[in-house]
Amino acid sequence: MESTIVPKMNLTKSLLAFVVIVWVSAACQRALPGVTLHQYAPQKSAVSASSMVVTPHALATRAGLEVLEQGGNAVDASIAVHFAMAVVFPRAGNLGGGGFMVIRLKNGETDALDYREKAPATAHRDMYLDSLGNVIKGLSTDGHLAAGTPGTVAGLIAAHQKYGKLDFKKLLAPAIRLAEAGFPVSGAEADRLNSFQSAFRKFNTPPNPFLRENWKAGDILVQKELARTLRLIQDKGKSGFYSGETAREIVAEMQSGGGMVTLDDLKKYEAKWRKPLTGRYKEYKIISMPPSSSGGVALLQLLEMVEPYPLSQWGFQSKEAVHLMAEASRRVYADRSQYLGDSDFFPVPMDSLLNERYLLKRMADFNPAKATSSEAVGAGNFKVALESFETEHTSVVDAEGNAVSVTTTLNSNYGCKVWVDGAGFFLNNEMDDFSVKPGVPNQFGLVGAEANAIQPYKRMLSSMTPTIVEKNGNLFMVLGTPGGSTIITTVFQVFINVAEFGMDLEKAVNSGRFHHQWLPDLIMTERGAFNPATRSVLESMGHRFQEVDRIAVIKAILKLPDGRLNGVGDFRNPDDDARGN
Ligand code: GLY
Repeated sequence: MESTIVPKMNLTKSLLAFVVIVWVSAACQRALPGVTLHQYAPQKSAVSASSMVVTPHALATRAGLEVLEQGGNAVDASIAVHFAMAVVFPRAGNLGGGGFMVIRLKNGETDALDYREKAPATAHRDMYLDSLGNVIKGLSTDGHLAAGTPGTVAGLIAAHQKYGKLDFKKLLAPAIRLAEAGFPVSGAEADRLNSFQSAFRKFNTPPNPFLRENWKAGDILVQKELARTLRLIQDKGKSGFYSGETAREIVAEMQSGGGMVTLDDLKKYEAKWRKPLTGRYKEYKIISMPPSSSGGVALLQLLEMVEPYPLSQWGFQSKEAVHLMAEASRRVYADRSQYLGDSDFFPVPMDSLLNERYLLKRMADFNPAKATSSEAVGAGNFKVALESFETEHTSVVDAEGNAVSVTTTLNSNYGCKVWVDGAGFFLNNEMDDFSVKPGVPNQFGLVGAEANAIQPYKRMLSSMTPTIVEKNGNLFMVLGTPGGSTIITTVFQVFINVAEFGMDLEKAVNSGRFHHQWLPDLIMTERGAFNPATRSVLESMGHRFQEVDRIAVIKAILKLPDGRLNGVGDFRNPDDDARGN
């Protein structure tokens, strides 16, 4: 393990720094052809007649393009992006987390892969409660006990075994080079690294490449341990992570801080292929993720609920459209809290939740002139800190028309903040996505009940919504986003921006957003990006508002009428990057 910074103190140090810069610059050139220090400026929008990759980091995008250029398909490219993100986007890219992949092949066949983390064998329903039954603050979010059994590596291997075209070893090559040679951190990553130093220090000891004061844009992050772990996965596949050296390092880390994951939990972990959830909205077919995510169910419910109304006539951020969409969201998130959980453990009533008559009935008390009260269904009131979590999304379409939509997460920024000593990656804090106590909100303000109670080997409920859309039977859109509970409403709104409000993709992604999740009973809006006239009318109808800095960070691809692909990264993440080849 080592890390290299650019000091500015005296002549000797400056000379040394120059040598380091030249060396690293050359190393970066070797790492990815054409990429040198400071020369990976993100590109927010791209159009291509061939393939398209949109990711949260330009170096991850380039890893995907490199694999496509070598003859890989969209699944190969997504896997290479995922491994590269574990290196260049450590706050959310991961080996120690989990995710979901939705696939639409060029022939229209679809598939969905669930590699969400699982509760370890010793996890139990009340494990985060004190003797009086109260939630112990921070136990499910910070430190070793917050980590579930990671699923990412098993998922990427399962995806490759079923759909990969290129040799698996090649898919790890860009990530290994970036981890070994190092790369210059972006300003956004440097800010995050600085703000989490005290949490890193609480759970980790030096030497550790992330423990450093005053990170700056351009500082070089070298991750030797991570490179070694990636090589083990490259050489040994699943057993390079879930048994042997890496597994022993994870377990040793767990034991050093009172975590739960054992060798047996790791050995037993399997990713699971699931039937994607599909539904119709006018001429569109929506393909999304079933449980253990709530994302697909909630998205299809929202679309079904608003379809009877003249959204395009009302227009973007009109009082009618916002009121309708917020009222639909209120009802959908109430359902989520009651009925959604890992369907391998809880009988999620999917048919009822997606039944047209049920959803019409659910909207029967919708009053076009007045906000419904969430308190009527037992509301609590609490504040949500929207800035503290990260997840990540990648959208890929290859030259043959295969499309992949992947969302992956450690849950919070840098997960539980525990870095596996020796193995070189952060572990998730996904246990907080369970309902640790019925009715008590998690870090996203989401509440849950029996359906999402903790059980050994169960997957915690997610909001991640990797989605692919067809129009009249053809590939139309690939989209998804980080953002915790706001993921669902953001995917919904960006699709509606295109399908109903006639926006091009850049405008659809970059326009202001709002969010309602039943509890707390308010509409969140992005600061300065919501029509004030609409807001005052909605306040007079009974809605309450809270402003937040940003809501979610979409990465999307749209097929243009001439057949070319438009990829768009969100202005909300300075590092988001869209590129075609
Ligand atoms: N950890 C965020 C989610 O899965 O929804």
